[in-house]
Order: sequence, then structure tokens, then C-alpha cells
Amino acid sequence: MSSKEVRKKFLKFFEDRKHTVVDSSSLIPTDPSVLLTTAGVQQFIKYYTGEADPIKDFKSENTVSIQKSFRTSDIEEIGDTSHLTFFEMLGNFSFGGYFKKEAIEYAYEFITKDLSLEISYVTVFKGSHGVQKDEESRRIWNSLGISDVREEGIEDVFWGPTGNSGPCGPTTEIYCKDSSGEDIEVWNIVFNEYFFPGSREELISEEPAKKLEKLEIPGVDTGMGFERLMMVIDGVDSVYKTDLLLPIIEKIDLLAPSLDIRIKRIFADHIRASVFLIADGVRPLNKEAGYILRRLLRRVIALQIKYDVHPDLFTEVVPVISSKFDGVYKNLKDTSAILLVMEEEKKRFKTAIGRGLRELSKYKKLTAKDAFSLYESYGLPFELIKEVAPVEVVGNLTKEDFEKEFKKHQEISRAGVEKKFGGHGLILDTGELKAGDKNELEKVVRLHTATHLLQSAIRRVLGEDVRQRGSDITTERTRFDFTFPRKVTDEELKEIEDVVNGAIRKDMAVHFIELPLDEAKDKGALYVESAKYPAKVKVYYTGDSIDAAFSKEICGGPHVSRTGAIGKFVIKKEKAVSAGIRRIRATVL
Ligand code: SER
Repeated sequence: MSSKEVRKKFLKFFEDRKHTVVDSSSLIPTDPSVLLTTAGVQQFIKYYTGEADPIKDFKSENTVSIQKSFRTSDIEEIGDTSHLTFFEMLGNFSFGGYFKKEAIEYAYEFITKDLSLEISYVTVFKGSHGVQKDEESRRIWNSLGISDVREEGIEDVFWGPTGNSGPCGPTTEIYCKDSSGEDIEVWNIVFNEYFFPGSREELISEEPAKKLEKLEIPGVDTGMGFERLMMVIDGVDSVYKTDLLLPIIEKIDLLAPSLDIRIKRIFADHIRASVFLIADGVRPLNKEAGYILRRLLRRVIALQIKYDVHPDLFTEVVPVISSKFDGVYKNLKDTSAILLVMEEEKKRFKTAIGRGLRELSKYKKLTAKDAFSLYESYGLPFELIKEVAPVEVVGNLTKEDFEKEFKKHQEISRAGVEKKFGGHGLILDTGELKAGDKNELEKVVRLHTATHLLQSAIRRVLGEDVRQRGSDITTERTRFDFTFPRKVTDEELKEIEDVVNGAIRKDMAVHFIELPLDEAKDKGALYVESAKYPAKVKVYYTGDSIDAAFSKEICGGPHVSRTGAIGKFVIKKEKAVSAGIRRIRATVL
């Protein structure tokens, strides 16, 4: 059976049973607490909680979809026979239309009749966290002639919540045998009976502080990984042998016939995933979804360099993916637009790490300290070093050793910073600016506001975990120190500069309000961890409201009244102060 037939059968099966077919949502979810779409249920969460009405939106309480999904949790496993980053998920959903009996009966019928597969065994929830053992599902399975029903705990057979809170509930899973006779999970059927006001980690902890609440109307959410299902249907021993991935592998075979199969699979998975991310509007960046895309692309490029794979890898493989999935999903037709993003990233990456790779090739044996120094000076991530360097050079190097080295450097740098500033009196926090007369004061005030914009821009470009470690302003320049583990590239500096100048051009208002210290921190105002603040503080923010501000910091002032007064912002220099701490010098013209 081809994947095309299975797609059709699945949708038709549930359409015939009064489900509305809903298109896959984007890989970029609307819930900001989730980086990428990880399951079919995500676009439907609001129908379980009662925030949206399924009848109004779908003319039915039941839906069916094939959803583009992405999970980063398996990124390190890629290269084996079954793990993928990007995958498709077949699922049927009900928001009050039906519950356990129909959900299990539908799944049983589809698996055993429409797909002619044999169910090896099923699992049900054994009960905990105030939720009873799922005897009802066991009885339903038994009534269908399935007697091997195994009980499992909250970690395995309880789904959700997906974000910081949400619907969740016990699940029942269907296992079938693969070609080697191993049992693998093909279908997960979730009974969304509860709402948990916290994350999954909090829920499955031994004694969660929060309690499960009953949802008013119980719902159903099911998910079946398409590639694994096809592997079982086809009786093959790898997802890469199903028609969803085989054409990609065949193309790679032509370009690099003698390449190790693991590397071919990494190429197939990562290029396919990148194509889908780019089609949904993700671009390579140093944070969030953009960072995931960057990591996938850079891993492919590094391996391509290491194994000297044909330079046309992207150009050859992307059209294969496009023709396989165009028509099923959106934005896949224009391969040149997708390739442009990939080729630009390739150029950027090669410039950024070219020196680092050359440096790396000089080592006969690499210690954790060397690896850290390559990371610090050239931006070579540990995984890449391991991937690219020959086994003789990096064979014994472990991630733990590397991390130890990392921590050591962080501690040294922290001590250094405290000594330098004596742990108090950072000039910006007291509002004491070095200025001798009115003209000088005017200049330092412009630089002061520019420094706020700079911090905000740095965090936008390099990631939210960047922390201020010090700053100093004279009439000539602002100097800003912050935590960041490696050199900031020229491209990133340019991006930071552009973001600041963009905020200046918008000519935003600069305001302050006085707030109790805790409330200021709650509002997300930035502050210096080592500084001492009074009980009541001023929060300076740019933009019309503090909640939607471009920048907000606990600060004594003074500042310009509109960002337009700053003039043109120019970064002069970037360098290391100590390991893990970078310094930017900038000025305004
Ligand atoms: N949300 C569940 C899963 O992803 C069922 O669809 O497994």
C-alpha cells in the first residue's frame, strides 16, 4: 500500500464516520510557550477547554487531520532506523462527540480491517495522581477480542499538557509487530478528561503542587506516526525504506554512494525537516525555532564538508522532497525560494566556522579544554566538533568533560566580574553618568538610552538567556558586558546594530513608572543580578505601554524622551572580557 493510499483511506474512514477533515496547521504554533508543533492535537486545544466552538468552526464535534509535526527530543538519535525530527501524524479528534468506546472501536477497525494489521497488544493506564485505573478501556478491548492488555504508568500512558498548561488524560496505545518481530507503538489514543494548570514536568513529578481538574466535556485525541505506520504496513525495517523517505535516500545514494548509511539518513531527515520549516516561514537564527533550523542545516553542511559530499546536495535533494509533498502541504512548490535560504545559511556558516574547522584540523588529539577554546573562539559547537573531527582526535572526548570545562570558565569569569566592579555601583544602575557639562550630558543621555536598546537587541538576536554583566558610559562611547559563550559573529553584530537603528527610526516614546521591586521584575524589567536595588524602583521602557515595550529596565535614568533623539547607532568593537563574557563598544553619531 502506498502512503498516498493510506492518507486517503484514513481521512475517508473518519469522514464516513462524521468527522470533518481539517488541514494541517503550521509548524509554528500559536501557543508561544511551545516552540514548534509537536502533535496533531495542538491546533485543537481550545475546543477541549471550551474556549472555541467546534460546531461553529467545523460543523461537527469530530475532526480528522494529518499534521506536520516536529520533535527536537530525538535529534541526537537521528541516523538509526526509526527516529525522525520532522514527521507526520494521522489523528482523529472529538470534542464531546464520542469517548472511549467509539475511539477504541474505530482504531481497532481501521487497523485490523482497513490496514489488515494484527494488533500485538495494547496498554492502558494503571491509575495514579488521583486518576483511577482505566478498567473501561480494558473491557472495551476485551470485547473486541484483544486480551493482552498491559497496564502502564503516568510517564508512558498519560498525555499532556503540551504547553505551560492544558488538557490531558490517560491513553491507550496499540502495538503491532515490525518486520523483525519487535513490538512497536503505532497508535496513541488519548482520553482528554482533565485540565492541568501546569506543565507536564510538574504533573508527572512525584508530588505535584497543582491538581488535575475535570474538563466539563471529555474529549478524544489520537495520534499515529505516519512513517512508523508505513514501516509496519510495508514490513520494512526502517522508516527510510517507506515511500515517504526512500526517494530522498535514493537521490543521496546517487550523489554519495559510499557514504555511511547513518549519514545518509541524517541528510534525509534534516533536509526534509528544513524544507518544511522554511516552507512555514522559519529562518535560520540564533534563537528559538530559527536556532533549530540553523542547527539542522549546519549539521548537514558540516558533514557535507567532512565527507566531501557533492556540493549540489541541497539543489538535488530539495526538488525530490518538494515533488513528493507538494499538493499535500502548502508552500513547497517554489524550490528556489527554499534553496535560497539554505544556500545563504551555507555561505554564512562557512565564513563563520571556516577558520575554526581549519584550526581543528591541526589537532592530533583534542582535550576538553581545546574543545572549549574552539567553541569560545570560533563558535564550533561541541556536537559539531565530535561529528567533524576524526575518531582518533575526538574519540575519548565526552560531553560531560566539555561541560565541566564550560562551568569552570563560567566560574572564573564570574569571579573576575565581581572583582572588577566590586559588586556595586554599576554606573548605569545608579544613573550616575560621567558628564562634565550640558553638552556632554546630552551625549551620555543619548548613549544611555541607546544602551537599553542595545541590550534588548542583543537578547533578540542572541537569545533571551543573555544577561548584563556590567556597563559604562562616557561621552565617547557605551561599553556593555554580557554573558555569551562565544564570539559574536560579524553578521550577528550587524543584525544587532540594525535592530537598534530600527527602534531609533520608529521614534518610540521613552517613559518610566515607579514600581515595587518585585512587581518590576514580574513585569519582565531587566536588572543586574549582582546589583542592590531599593524597595521601590523606576522602570524605564520604550514604546507606548510597559507590557508591549521594546525594552524595559530597572534604571535610575536619565533618558531621552523619544528614541529618535539618539541619532545613528554604530557598533565599534566586540571582544571577550573573560570566558563566557563578551563586551560590545558602541557609539552614537
Ligand atoms: N497527542 C497524542 C500524541 O501526540 C495523541 O495524538 O501522541
